[in-house]
Amino acid sequence: MRDVLHSATTVRSRVTEWMGRRLLARLSRTGFDLESSWFVPSRVMAPLRRNGLDPVPELARMHAAGPITRLPLPVTVWLVTGYDAAKRVLVDAESFSNDFSHFKELGVFSAEAPGGLGFSDPPEHTRLRKVLTPEFTMRRLSRLVPRIETIVADQLDIMSMKDGPVDLVEDFALPVPALTICELLGVPASEREEFQRRSVARFDLGGAATASLSAVSESIVYFRELVRAQRLAPTDGLLGELVRKHGDELDDDELAGLADGLVTGGFETTASMISLGTLAMLRSPDLMDHVRGDEEAVSGLVDELLRHLTVVQVAFLRVARRDVDIAGTKVRAGDIVACSLSQANRDPSVYGAPDDICPERSAGQHLAFGYGAHRCIGAELAKMELRIAYPALAKRFPRMRLAVEPGALSFRKLSIVYGLHSLPVDLGSPTRSAEEHLLG
Ligand code: HEM
Repeated sequence: MRDVLHSATTVRSRVTEWMGRRLLARLSRTGFDLESSWFVPSRVMAPLRRNGLDPVPELARMHAAGPITRLPLPVTVWLVTGYDAAKRVLVDAESFSNDFSHFKELGVFSAEAPGGLGFSDPPEHTRLRKVLTPEFTMRRLSRLVPRIETIVADQLDIMSMKDGPVDLVEDFALPVPALTICELLGVPASEREEFQRRSVARFDLGGAATASLSAVSESIVYFRELVRAQRLAPTDGLLGELVRKHGDELDDDELAGLADGLVTGGFETTASMISLGTLAMLRSPDLMDHVRGDEEAVSGLVDELLRHLTVVQVAFLRVARRDVDIAGTKVRAGDIVACSLSQANRDPSVYGAPDDICPERSAGQHLAFGYGAHRCIGAELAKMELRIAYPALAKRFPRMRLAVEPGALSFRKLSIVYGLHSLPVDLGSPTRSAEEHLLG
């Protein structure tokens, strides 16, 4: 009798699992509005939600019960919320795969695998990462410092010439990383306006998904053309360097994919850090004073804001290649593992008063850029941009304040990269007028 009951339960759970997979596959094909989906349990959504600048309380409750939790889904998905457990997963590329094709095999996603470093495993990942790494050393990146300073100063001038409140997202947070990536890659000046438009369109989650998708394919087409032009006459930027050094071993698609991966990784993330970090500073005069301090003070604040805000809320999904023990829980081969970076960065066993922003704490070991082989390749570039952008903004507009009630701000409701839709600010009177600034 027990055997009959057992096999009936097994059949039922297999059927439920199969139906669940079919449903997920179908939804991933046809698109769906997670926000209004009654059938997706709130625990599943918790890692993609926020409460203002903080992770939702549900994540802390899950974490209190243990650093790894099984999510109520038809396929086995583990959510890691502990700092040490997240590091354990992220560092172990032998046991956990980033290869997107696993999700197709599992029937979870039916879309074509996106390219780029984040969805590849060694040896492919090692080969591509090795090509890019020399372009992201401090020595190579330092050439961009004066260019980023000019980009920031130009945007501040543009803002100061506007009447009334300005939208800091549109006028500052988006253009600074978009134009920095143009500098990095070597996008010609005449093509930068169009590049910015496309970059914004692909992340316009408020707009139509089709507009965003067509911007992605436009972007790849554009990069293929840029690669061809660089093959004929390589310039100083990253693409020119890659063509010079690796032009024979990498084809046009691979080079275009790498460039596109840098836009995907480096644009929206940095833009969100600029706008959310500014909001955090607008809320706290102490932080505003801090960011006007010396280089060390600014650098400490930037790392603490990265930890506190953790804009990439969840790391790329991993699939276990074999059975692994994570913090006493058995993860089986084929299980999916999601690391909640935002909650891991608030782990009270690592950070005292984790919900406070303490610029003096040494937060440098945070997981905002991930950890291990897939750790963000652009981390130093992003920090460079933030170390230039925050103080320049705070010094130029010392009387800047929110132009709306805090409750009227509109944040992303459900996203992997958290952010603000807009940040209306009154600039107050700048320290120097734009004209004076231009005259030096
Ligand atoms: C504040 C800004 C940024 C944040 C918070 C951030 C965060 C992250 C995180 C969390 C990961 C993935 C870790 C994982 O799943 O293991 C990642 C990967 C990546 N990021 Fe960033 N990122 C930022 C800026 C940038 C910039 C400026 C670039 C390049 C221009 C960039 C390019 C990439 C690439 C190519 C990867 C994939 C690396 C790999 O898989 O080997 N990111 N980033």
